[in-house]
Amino acid sequence: MAYKIAIIVGSLRKDSINRKVARSMCAIRGDNLDCSMVEIGDLPLYNQDLDGSPPEQWVRFRKEVAAADGVLFVSPEYNRGIPGVLKNAIDVGSRPYGQSVFDKKPAAIITASPGSIGGFGANHQIRQVGVFLNMPMMQQPEAYLGHVSEDSFDESGCLKDGPLKELIEKLAHAFHDWVDMIHRSRQLLAEDAAHSSQQAARAKEHA
Ligand SMILES: Cc1cc2nc3c(=O)[nH]c(=O)nc-3n(C[C@H](O)[C@H](O)[C@H](O)COP(=O)(O)O)c2cc1C
Repeated sequence: MAYKIAIIVGSLRKDSINRKVARSMCAIRGDNLDCSMVEIGDLPLYNQDLDGSPPEQWVRFRKEVAAADGVLFVSPEYNRGIPGVLKNAIDVGSRPYGQSVFDKKPAAIITASPGSIGGFGANHQIRQVGVFLNMPMMQQPEAYLGHVSEDSFDESGCLKDGPLKELIEKLAHAFHDWVDMIHRSRQLLAEDAAHSSQQAARAKEHA
């Protein structure tokens, strides 16, 4: 079964290495992940005053995330934290209160940087926010991609063969299995609950 994955990239830069990593993820075949990028560059800054009459860009973003079976965050680290543009998108998707489009969506995180620690700080800040937003976060493999440069990509903008690409392929397989496990478990629980309530209704009829 193919799962729809919304990829949210935390960089607006035209030649973003994180966008290229996201593109590499989309290019992986055979994982039953139907990936599409959800753009965040046009989202007005979140302002609670606008909850009653949201800007059309917020509505578009929320719809696209809501339609997905899972969310993949691919982001740089800015000053050891989450880039503001990504945090804004997460805040937009999380509101109005009680209507978060992230609620219960299985998720995974990739951070990429030319630096050696691969965006570890941003990765864990995204994880912290995702946990609060009730997103089951995949734990392994972790993806702190360090020493990523223009040279890591081929002319089509995807990762060249090598350890980085292998890690992304591993992550794609693991993320498919993670999303599959979460959705199947929920379906089984829902079927169990329906079965139990049917049995309870029958028992009542015959009482
Ligand atoms: C405002 C700013 C802050 C940054 N802070 C960090 C940082 O904390 N850690 C890090 O590894 N790289 C940092 N960098 C470097 C980015 O990792 C690098 O510019 C990277 O290419 C950005 O990702 P992108 O190519 O996807 O846009 C920073 C860059 C900017 C512009």
